[in-house]
Amino acid sequence: MTDDAALYGDSFADVYDDWYADMFDTAGAVRTLVALAGPGPVCELGVGTGRLAIPLTEHGLEVIGIDASAAMLDRLRSKEPSAALTAVLGDMADVAGVLDAAGIVGVDGRHRHVTLVVCAFNTFLNLSAEEAQQRCMHQVASLLGPDGVFVVESMVPAEPDEIESESLDASSVGHGVTVHTSTDVQSQIIRGEHREPTADGLRRRPWTARYLHPEQFDELADRAGLVPIHRWSSWQGDPFDEDSPSHITVYARAGTRS
Ligand SMILES: C[S@@+](CC[C@H](N)C(=O)[O-])C[C@H]1O[C@@H](n2cnc3c(N)ncnc32)[C@H](O)[C@@H]1O
Repeated sequence: MTDDAALYGDSFADVYDDWYADMFDTAGAVRTLVALAGPGPVCELGVGTGRLAIPLTEHGLEVIGIDASAAMLDRLRSKEPSAALTAVLGDMADVAGVLDAAGIVGVDGRHRHVTLVVCAFNTFLNLSAEEAQQRCMHQVASLLGPDGVFVVESMVPAEPDEIESESLDASSVGHGVTVHTSTDVQSQIIRGEHREPTADGLRRRPWTARYLHPEQFDELADRAGLVPIHRWSSWQGDPFDEDSPSHITVYARAGTRS
């Protein structure tokens, strides 16, 4: 696993739950995921501190969460989740291989399939190379049973001519935090840093992301044999349109839905 994979989690593990707690519709997400999951098991890519995984287990689902950051998984384990949650350290770009090697769920059902894979809150974009994003999509497809679905939640990027190559803005997380970004529109890679003033000086929290337009998600999915069956702008199922700041897309195996 590359250091790059752990970068986001290691940068934010100590503040993630405090800074982002009020930003999510976690109840709506859990309700939607439970409705889509059927009997399970569910696999969450970038499980983090268990914001979604823990309530999903409380709804009776078995959840397998993968995360590249040991610091994030330490936070998750400190919440003492039930035995229905298995947390695995690994790179989601290789998720099927990691879970297969651990004997948890297998490539193309060698051990068993999952009914739902979820990747929430821009986490897919933490794969900061197109090759890793495509590999991940293929690996997700290989984990899904015939009726399985992949649910991804991600921001919609601005058009290329509206993207600043360098920016420094106040962050929505407060605490005097600013966000510096440097964006290459060609590769779609953003190198970012949250800068937090502390008594000991400026605390820097670096991250990288490769943004994707919804159509580019569909192209990655198509090459992995997945097709979009729903696209919403919220976990409440509001319709998605060209002004939506983010999308929640549900993919199924091609040819399995009418
Ligand atoms: C934005 S947080 C989301 C956490 C949680 N899913 C949620 O919705 O609150 C992104 C998580 O993905 C993890 N992550 C980033 N890149 C990863 C990778 N390549 N493989 C596995 N996990 C990764 C980070 O460590 C972090 O815990």
